[in-house]
Amino acid sequence: MKINVNRKIYNNITNGYLWIFNDEIKKSDLKDGDIVSLYYNDKFLCKAYYNSKSKISYRVISFENRELDVNFWYEKLCKLYEYKSQFYGGNFRLVYSEGDFLPGLIIDLFTTLDSKKVVVCMLLTLGIENQKENIFRALKKMGIDCIIDRSDSNLRKLEGLELRRRIEYGKIELPFTVSIDDIYFLIDPLNGQKTGFYFDQTENRRFLKNISKGSVVLDVFSYIGSFSLYALKYGAKFVEMIDESSFASNIVPQIMKLNGFQDRYIFHMDNAFHKLRELSNLGREFSIVVVDPPSFTKTKDKIQNALKAYFDINYFGLKLVKNEGYFITSSCSQKIRENDLLNVIREALHKQKYFGKLIYRGGQSLDHPINVSMEETEYLKFFVFQINKQ
Ligand SMILES: C[S@@+](CC[C@H](N)C(=O)[O-])C[C@H]1O[C@@H](n2cnc3c(N)ncnc32)[C@H](O)[C@@H]1O
Repeated sequence: MKINVNRKIYNNITNGYLWIFNDEIKKSDLKDGDIVSLYYNDKFLCKAYYNSKSKISYRVISFENRELDVNFWYEKLCKLYEYKSQFYGGNFRLVYSEGDFLPGLIIDLFTTLDSKKVVVCMLLTLGIENQKENIFRALKKMGIDCIIDRSDSNLRKLEGLELRRRIEYGKIELPFTVSIDDIYFLIDPLNGQKTGFYFDQTENRRFLKNISKGSVVLDVFSYIGSFSLYALKYGAKFVEMIDESSFASNIVPQIMKLNGFQDRYIFHMDNAFHKLRELSNLGREFSIVVVDPPSFTKTKDKIQNALKAYFDINYFGLKLVKNEGYFITSSCSQKIRENDLLNVIREALHKQKYFGKLIYRGGQSLDHPINVSMEETEYLKFFVFQINKQ
């Protein structure tokens, strides 16, 4: 099927913007999930997939005029593997959706201690769901030993798709062990959050090497304790973690033991908003406080509420930093921009008459590339401050 687009859409797409919204283009009698060829002035522009149920009617999937078959996916996935493994060896986000010009597809790759390659896939759209067999066949062709399908994101509901999580191919005992930056992690993609691990903070965790020696760390919204583990590896004396997840609370003791850190941590299974107040009432202080909350908003209309939540946790997080200690804060809400978060921190500092020196700003790691024409692909903000309490 061939569809002609107007100049505005042509410009957007040739600039790298991969979405066409339903109010930008005439309704068509295509079937949802169909792959179409977009043309401008009778010249081939790209291939896109269609879904009338989504506000995003078309997503560009290829700039080449070729069939989307196993070979297409095999070539794309091999290229990404080759490119990203040079940064991260055997554990990284292999496909980051629009950031890697493959809208609707997320694949994380893990390499177990016994060298098994395990991928965890999130198929987020109908267009990608229809490519499922090709994608899985391409992964098998690459020599992947186990494919886990973690397609249970609520985004699928907007596409009219059901949710599912299962082992699609191969055998694996869960949780499995991986080593990242010489730290052991236990990964359980069926029972853990998202794909089982947050690869987006890899570079930011490495920053802890600079400041951890001899420190006592508070890791708020810790999940399985990735920031804590880096801090401990780089010489922290002790870490306290806060997370409300019972999954994390059960697996953290095993991960700490695996790394020989069993005597250097406490895990508080609690609500962070409540626990931060409690620790502050007790007059507790830490050399490093890390705050890595979940996304507080996915939509524009909830930004104000989200900013209040960010203020709250950052205000109390800052209170718990000792004089000349470090405050590390992050936001993964795409709708909250870098300056919004900085303003929240400024306000929290000013209200308590603290000074803050911004010593480092980070973002998503190299396996989560930003398509510079799509601000939707840039979401992670990360700051490190040194705090002076005068
Ligand atoms: C972005 S993830 C943290 C990732 C983690 N820092 C890491 O590096 O792997 C956010 C975490 O916040 C936890 N969480 C969400 N709301 C919470 C709350 N109100 N209190 C405590 N933990 C919460 C979730 O269970 C999740 O583990």
